[in-house]
Amino acid sequence: MSTVAQPGSNEANLPSASLALIPDLAQQLRVFKTLSSIIDYAYTFDSGGRFLYSNQALLDLLGLRLDEVIGKTFLELPYPIDLAVKLQAQIEQVFATKQKVIDETSYISPAGVVGYYEYIFNPVFGSDGAVEMVAGSTREVSHRKRNEEIQGQLAAIVDSSDDAIISKDLDGIIVTWNFAASRIFGYTSDEMIGAPLLRLVPLNLHHEEDEILAKMKAGERIKHYETTRLRKDGSNIVVALTVSPIRNSNGIIIGSSKIARDISGPKNMERLLIQAEKIATMGRMAATIAHEINNPLAAVTNLIFLAKGSSADNQDTVRYLTTAEHELARVSHLTRQTLGYYRDTGAHSAVNCFELINEVVRVYESKIQNRGIVLERVYDPIPSLIASKGELTQVFSSIIANSVDAMPDGGRLRIGIKQLSAVEIEICFEDQGIGISAKNLVKVFEPFFTTKGNLGTGIGLWIAKQLVEKHGGQLKLSSSVTSGCSGTSVRLVFPLVRERNAMSKV
Ligand SMILES: Nc1ncnc2c1ncn2[C@@H]1O[C@H](COP(=O)(O)OP(=O)(O)OP(=O)(O)O)[C@@H](O)[C@H]1O
Ligand SMILES: [Mg+2]
Repeated sequence: MSTVAQPGSNEANLPSASLALIPDLAQQLRVFKTLSSIIDYAYTFDSGGRFLYSNQALLDLLGLRLDEVIGKTFLELPYPIDLAVKLQAQIEQVFATKQKVIDETSYISPAGVVGYYEYIFNPVFGSDGAVEMVAGSTREVSHRKRNEEIQGQLAAIVDSSDDAIISKDLDGIIVTWNFAASRIFGYTSDEMIGAPLLRLVPLNLHHEEDEILAKMKAGERIKHYETTRLRKDGSNIVVALTVSPIRNSNGIIIGSSKIARDISGPKNMERLLIQAEKIATMGRMAATIAHEINNPLAAVTNLIFLAKGSSADNQDTVRYLTTAEHELARVSHLTRQTLGYYRDTGAHSAVNCFELINEVVRVYESKIQNRGIVLERVYDPIPSLIASKGELTQVFSSIIANSVDAMPDGGRLRIGIKQLSAVEIEICFEDQGIGISAKNLVKVFEPFFTTKGNLGTGIGLWIAKQLVEKHGGQLKLSSSVTSGCSGTSVRLVFPLVRERNAMSKV
């Protein structure tokens, strides 16, 4: 038997027994080359699907000697029958199709070693182009398989999470995006993978991302950081973020993972509770103050009445006391207006809106004059409104007070009253004041929202809107802060003929 093995070459390891089955020297050489280039478990088969050769690694796994393997098929070796049948069929397939077969399988060796293996059956062609033999190579991939299983489990956990779990690289580009992220932010993973994370961050919070990135690069973690993010539809969402750096196998930070929990629901509830508590406190406070002020006020009114009676012969004194009486009536009227919100005093009667607005304007007359505000009244004839005079006074008073406050350096306040249709009237207040920014415009009807510091309580518009709606009407506010044409317009629309259920509400 001839051999091509050279001392010191890989081929020296090739057992001559297997080569004995290969008659042609050139063919033997090809087998050497094939096998020497194969690592892990290496073996060859003849056209009958019998082992021509097996390297030592496979012999060790099978617990057999070479002569116990050579010339045998899988069916005659220690393989489970279904696996042996499958492998044998695949060998035949390679001979028939001249195509390699790649597959994987689990296998328990006779010594009880459990493993997962990936194998390739490759055709080895002769000079005539036919498949002369099949060279097989098997690699144990138990570790990779286990990792794949763990990764699959982790992916399932990530995808079943209720929280958005997103990872991004150090350039802020999104790398992974789970189902919850799609549900919470409204973007699909196709839309977001490869996109910048800043797409989710409101413009005024972009600096946060730089800070988060700096922390990540320093290997720090951020826990339960409450902030606002943007949904695809442009709406805001309050989230609690936990951000952690991601390291590669060498420990180098390559990105970060972000868990975002939607806490809009609890936040809204918290806000509503705080607001309800504030309102309740305000109500209690208002009732107490109204009580404290109204009692001495009633006493002083009575005393003035008595004083007037006993000084009937002194005309000057009577005149002074009469003026004092009027002023006191005004104070008690204002007290009831501003402090009586929480008492439902609103008995309904026919209200003449011109007169009522003129009365309210009179209260602000000195401020209007001092600031150089020009008042323009355009009143078309309208029928009386059936309404609560006290409540309408409060509405007009809040709106006019706001306009006066908004024009510290003067301007025009136009009050227009007209009949819109047989069933509706409109009352308009248009000022040329500082206007309301878009950011504040959405908040002006919230209780306690004020830009006036200690000078405002922030309940004027909130109460006014409620009272208008209580009368079946609507309050609409528009405003501009554009310099040169800034100003605010408040439009009230009241029904003249009230619906039955609206009537019953008042
Ligand atoms: N005509 C207006 N021009 C400019 N800003 C206005 C006008 N009306 C309301 N605002 C803005 O809306 C906010 C809320 O108004 P609102 O009347 O509810 O409260 P306030 O005037 O601040 O306090 P108060 O409870 O004393 O009325 C104001 O602080 C102001 O910023
Ligand atoms: Mg106000």
